Amino acid sequence: MEDLKSKIDLKKLPKHIAVIMDGNGRWAKKHGQPRVFGHRNGVQSVREATEAAAELGVEYMTLYAFSTENWGRPKAEVNALMTLLVQTIRKEIATMNKNNIRLTAIGDLKQLPSKSYKALLEGIENTKNNTRMTLVLALNYSAKWEILNAVKSLATEAVEGKIKPEEITEATFDDALSTKGIPHPELLIRTSGEQRISNFLLWQIAYAELAFLPIYWPEFRKQNLYQAILDYQNRERRFGKTSDQIIGSE
Ligand code: IPE
Ligand code: IPE
Ligand code: MG
Repeated sequence: MEDLKSKIDLKKLPKHIAVIMDGNGRWAKKHGQPRVFGHRNGVQSVREATEAAAELGVEYMTLYAFSTENWGRPKAEVNALMTLLVQTIRKEIATMNKNNIRLTAIGDLKQLPSKSYKALLEGIENTKNNTRMTLVLALNYSAKWEILNAVKSLATEAVEGKIKPEEITEATFDDALSTKGIPHPELLIRTSGEQRISNFLLWQIAYAELAFLPIYWPEFRKQNLYQAILDYQNRERRFGKTSDQIIGSE
């Protein structure tokens, strides 16, 4: 395990890693347990991913914890997830402070149950001065919702005469998103073997490297992150150019 970690080129770390934490339900089923058992066990994986990223020097990590579409799940599961969120944030604040990790969140947060929203705001407030890594929780998040919001706010500014339509650039659009100020993820990891994006960070992952891991989220450990980063570092990011151009510019 240490060996895998030592192979990582710390000068070529992704600044931002985004993770679609998927497969809790299937993992629970495999163990003959209810779905909630999988969600509970997924918390340890959150700890491992966060700690491993922070120890390496990754600056941002975004975890997809609850999508807007997830409201469509059975009420008992939604309630269990919301309760787990409150419990986990309250329990982890001390560790986040010890590890100098700042918590923040993206998504339509005000629509969360008030207890969850309150716990989230407390977590954000209590860790706001930490500087080693920013942990972004995507909660009640939908990329299409986020993009529409950005479009609406820019359109409003245009109608009010604050900006001209031709002044809208990728940079102004970035600033209208809830990820304002956060660099785009270079690496997106999804567990569970599913190979789709499920309405996550659509604009921001335009050029991200995608890693689909054949393990369920509760099985995710530090070495899975190390391996994903190593694979990322072995890829050639061409951004539309040719391989010769990339090698020539190194
Ligand atoms: C991911 O695991 C957790 C959330 C979406 C909240 P799932 O609950 O989606 O697990 P599977 O995909 O059904 O196995
Ligand atoms: C995506 O997982 C959302 C989160 C991980 C929070 P889902 O399990 O909800 O995605 P789909 O429905 O299989 O695409
Ligand atoms: Mg799933």
